Amino acid sequence: SSLSMETIVSLCRKRGFIYGSSEIYNGFNGFYDYGPLGAELKKNIKNEWWVEFVQRSDDVFGLDSSIIGSPLIWKASGHVGGFSDPMVDDKKTKRRYRADQLFYKKVGDAYVTVHEAEKTEECACLVDAPPDVFAQLPPPDDPRRPGDLTEPRDFNLMFETNVGATDASTAYLRPETAQGIFVNYKNVLSSSRLRLPGGIAQIGKAFRNEITPRNFIFRSREFEQMEIEYFIKEDDWEPRHAEWITRCKTWLLKIGLKDELLGYDVHRDNLAHYARACTDITFKFPFGEQELQGIAARGNYDLTQHQSASGKSLEFYDEVAKEKLIPHVIEPSIGVDRLFLALLCSAYEEDGDRVVLKLSPLVAPVKCAVFPLVKKEPVLTLARRLYEDLREEFACDFDVSGAIGRRYRRQDEIGTPFCVTVDFDTLDDNSGFP
Ligand code: GAP
Repeated sequence: SSLSMETIVSLCRKRGFIYGSSEIYNGFNGFYDYGPLGAELKKNIKNEWWVEFVQRSDDVFGLDSSIIGSPLIWKASGHVGGFSDPMVDDKKTKRRYRADQLFYKKVGDAYVTVHEAEKTEECACLVDAPPDVFAQLPPPDDPRRPGDLTEPRDFNLMFETNVGATDASTAYLRPETAQGIFVNYKNVLSSSRLRLPGGIAQIGKAFRNEITPRNFIFRSREFEQMEIEYFIKEDDWEPRHAEWITRCKTWLLKIGLKDELLGYDVHRDNLAHYARACTDITFKFPFGEQELQGIAARGNYDLTQHQSASGKSLEFYDEVAKEKLIPHVIEPSIGVDRLFLALLCSAYEEDGDRVVLKLSPLVAPVKCAVFPLVKKEPVLTLARRLYEDLREEFACDFDVSGAIGRRYRRQDEIGTPFCVTVDFDTLDDNSGFP
């Protein structure tokens, strides 16, 4: 479609869905603030997810673990050693790039660098480039070379902070909520009806010092995740993986994503260090088809690591087989913000100069708007009473200002599924209003 990100970004600002962070101080790259409608939409997304996967699931239990935990968690999980992206510094401009977003190609006998946006088929990724490519790039003052690039080096994406007053106190803001689930596995097992198979679900903030945050809230430095670790027996992983892919897709359709904008990306190589298999559900964003949700078969890497690092048993005792085992997991993981963006892109429609967000009533920030046709009694009071009645249960809007057509348009633009106009005819049949 012809939908552009500028259109979405400006609608978000104008109507109070999303603002850039710290705008009065000229912004802060990679962070965003959600306005009145954005906060509402985000809350609805999280609530629908929780109702679907926790409240209505017999075998999945909720958790809300801390954002900062022992740094030993992140050593054991492999994040301290390995949660990094290859980074390239441009010594001339002092800018930093993710090396997998920088490309090069051969022109004559020289190499030139090419940015992602201009890359063609003959371009290869700089991260895979042999060292001699760097030596052969055009000299730093050559216009074909955008800068003076260093060789790629690993850049750890975790934000560090200090806890307490001692120096040796480095801790990390969690880069995924998943580890909070793994380290609480035994707690939840012994305090709930969690069995095998069965899962733990969590919604919460995650932080990554992304080298190049981009595409609005698609890749930011602070975001929210909705994750499940579904614990299973090893030989059960293939059918369970397939089952979760279907469940996730079904829910995405239920909350209003258009089927034709969704796709799959089945990873066979370039898997994360812990994964056996991973299928992404993708979404066709205005900037291209990208990962929306990952559904990984994560093996039992994490529980095994935490068991050996902590010295505490993280085994499940199988009463039937009379044996202990460290469960494997299926891990569906989706970003709330990324889903928020996908929902807006999916819902956006233009009809002439009229903008309509076709949001599902399940997630729409305002469920119903009430308009008194005129600012006169008794229409005004009746409309106000209807509004006060409805808002006991739903997020509602009461709008008395401007022509009625404009009031409908304002609600169309923010995705309100129902509008009610109270006029003089309403007065003839107000039997529902004592
Ligand atoms: N526990 C597994 C995990 O964290 P991931 O693929 O790194 O896997 C899962 O992240 C999901 O979190 C992604 O599919 C995406 O929706 C969201 N996500 C990841 N990084 C993000 C970022 N920088 N900004 C917004 N959302 C992000």
